[in-house]
Amino acid sequence: MISGAINEMTGMTNKRDDAAADTELPLVVDRINKTYKGGIEANQEISFSARPGEILGILGPNGAGKTTLVRQITTELMPSSGSIRVFNVDVVNDPIRAKFMMGIVPQEADLYEMLTVRQMLRIFGKLRGLPSRHAGARADELIESLRLEDHRDVPNLKLSGGLKRRVMVGIATLSHPRLIVLDEPTTGLDPQSRRDLWALLRENRDRGSAILLTTHYMEEAEALCDRVGIIQHGRLLALDTVPNLRAAHGYEFKVTYTTNGTENKTHTIYGVDDQELVAKVRDKGVRQYSVARTSLEDVYLALTDGEDSDGFTDDA
Ligand SMILES: Nc1ncnc2c1ncn2[C@@H]1O[C@H](COP(=O)(O)OP(=O)(O)OP(=O)(O)O)[C@@H](O)[C@H]1O
Ligand SMILES: [Mg+2]
Repeated sequence: MISGAINEMTGMTNKRDDAAADTELPLVVDRINKTYKGGIEANQEISFSARPGEILGILGPNGAGKTTLVRQITTELMPSSGSIRVFNVDVVNDPIRAKFMMGIVPQEADLYEMLTVRQMLRIFGKLRGLPSRHAGARADELIESLRLEDHRDVPNLKLSGGLKRRVMVGIATLSHPRLIVLDEPTTGLDPQSRRDLWALLRENRDRGSAILLTTHYMEEAEALCDRVGIIQHGRLLALDTVPNLRAAHGYEFKVTYTTNGTENKTHTIYGVDDQELVAKVRDKGVRQYSVARTSLEDVYLALTDGEDSDGFTDDA
């Protein structure tokens, strides 16, 4: 509810029962299905919610249904069934109100080519309701935090793909929206730009915004996201914190080693005790191996195709 959102913004607190608190969630996705013309079931029975002050990552391979999910949340695409609520505003019934509460970075950047970076940020600031005198200051603040100083007066036409992405993120976070939705915001960014962007998203998170982003990068999901959802073939297979996802995997450690036969083959074995795992490979006569904690990637592989994650069974 708008009043709820405003209360959140101003830090006002009401006595709320659980049901009321529920309606103030930044995002509630309830049994969404999306079937495209031609019959592709791009989203199937997806349900989850986002909480204030968290970064929620959606991880999944190409064609998993991430963009489809995002575009339904951002009101660009109608769900075939199910409902989506942003601070209790239904995105289908009231898309304008819902959209006004969101900052959005779509997968494909689309900027006015002739405007400069600063002009873009100022104009969008005003469109978002910032008074003229504040819009310029806010634009400069964002230019600094996104490290766009050298490009301040460059027309968008002349920006690289990565720089355009940074400008898009600037636009999405201009008015400190309480829900920020980004589709692959860091794809194509160099490592430093990626880290700058993470810092900006964390700042917004720490201010209380909920952030939903999609990514292909395991290390990004692990480093940045408070919770990670794994989506494949349109279904949400799991959604939890990385430590909980790792715990659900069942094995805390892995040992990786290579055997030299007619072909070099890499093996990975998993277990709950690293010493035991090391003893096991040493018993095979292996002297070169690496020990690591089970990563999000292991969880991902186990959930999406089961390869490389069959516990103690070893194909050596
Ligand atoms: N407009 C459309 N019409 C028909 N099918 C579509 C349309 N958009 C996407 N699809 C199909 O829906 C499925 C999910 O696509 P989607 O773009 O949501 O995946 P994604 O997870 O975002 O992939 P990527 O990682 O490549 O961005 C794919 O099979 C895709 O081909
Ligand atoms: Mg996509």
